[in-house]
Amino acid sequence: MSPIDLRSDTVTRPGAAMRAAIAAAPVGDDQYGDDPSVNRLQARIAECLGKPAALWFATGTQANQVALRLLTRPGDDVIVAREAHSVWHEAGGSAANGGVHFTEIGERGVFSVEQMRGAIKPRNLDIFAPTSLVQIENTHNRMGGVIFPQSQVVDICAAARAHGLACYLDGARLWNVSAATGLPVAELAAPFDLVMVSMSKGLGAPAGSLLAGPRELIGPAVRHRRMLGGAMRQAGLLAAGAEYALDHHLARLVDDHASARMLGERLAASCKVVLDASSIQTNIVVFGLSAGAPPAGDLVMRARERGVLINALNPRTIRLVTHLDAPYEACERAATLLLEILED
Ligand SMILES: Cc1ncc(COP(=O)(O)O)c(C=O)c1O
Repeated sequence: MSPIDLRSDTVTRPGAAMRAAIAAAPVGDDQYGDDPSVNRLQARIAECLGKPAALWFATGTQANQVALRLLTRPGDDVIVAREAHSVWHEAGGSAANGGVHFTEIGERGVFSVEQMRGAIKPRNLDIFAPTSLVQIENTHNRMGGVIFPQSQVVDICAAARAHGLACYLDGARLWNVSAATGLPVAELAAPFDLVMVSMSKGLGAPAGSLLAGPRELIGPAVRHRRMLGGAMRQAGLLAAGAEYALDHHLARLVDDHASARMLGERLAASCKVVLDASSIQTNIVVFGLSAGAPPAGDLVMRARERGVLINALNPRTIRLVTHLDAPYEACERAATLLLEILED
C-alpha cells in the first residue's frame, strides 16, 4: 500500500483528467509572450485577484524573491510575522537576491498594527535600515495554516501606507483562506501592492505560482524573473494543469480543512501532544510533543516505517498537511497510527 503522505500539500500528483488537459494545451514560447495557455491563466488570475496583471512563475519562492526586488532596495528591512516562509524556507534567497533583512514580529503568524508600527525603523537616523515593506503570509505555513483576520490586514496595510511602506501578500495558500472564510480572493488581495498565489499547493497542480499587481510592477517583474533563470518556454503545459486545478479543485479545499480538523482533534486528545485543536483553521496541523513523547525525529522515522509520512519543524514540533491525495479515511488511519506510536 502506498504511504499516506502528509508532509505537504505539494506532494499531490496530477490525475488522468489533469494530464489530459496538459496534453491538449496549446503552447508557445512564453519568454516571447507567445504561450496562449500561460496568457490565459495570467489573465484569469489577474481578474480573480482584482489586479490589472499577473505573471507566471515556476515557484512561489521565485515569485517571492522577485516581489522583494520590486518593492525594496538592497539593505532595506522587511516586516514579517515570525517564522515566515521567506525567512525560513527560501534558502537565504531573500538576502542573496533581494539583499534585505527581516524584522519578525507578532505571535502565531499574525501581528497587530501597533506591533507593526513599533517595528518600523525611525527614518531620521542613518544608523537604521529603512523599513520599506510589510509582508503578510496568509495562511501562515509554519504556524499551522493560520488565517490572518481580514479586518486586521486592512488596518495594517492602511497604516503601512501612511508610513510609506509597500504591502506584499505571500498568498501561497490564499485559496484556503477564501474557502475557510467565504471571502473572495479579490477582497483578500485588495489591500496589497503585489500578491502571490500558488497553484501547486492545495489546488494540486504540478507547478506554478503567479504574482499579480499593477502593470508598472508586473512589467519589470518579467526581467527579474529572467534574472533568476525563471523564463520558461512552453510553460503552457504547466499552466494548463494549473487551470484544470482552478476549475476542479477549489471547491474541495474545505474537505482538506475537515480532515485537518479531525486529525487535530484526535491527536489533541493524547497527553503526548500539545495542541489546541480549535486553532486549526485550514489544512495544516502543527503540534508540539509533550515531555513524555519521543523526539520529533523519532516520531517521523517510526511513522514512516508504518506508512505515514510527516515532517518535523523542529525537535519538538510536527507538521501535517492535508490535501487532494490524502482523503479523509486515509487521514483517519494516519491519526490512529500516529496515536499508536505516541502511546507506545
Ligand atoms: C507560505 C508559502 N510561501 C511560499 C512558498 C513557496 O512555494 P514553492 O514551494 O512553490 O517555492 C511556500 C511553499 O510551501 C509557502 O508555504
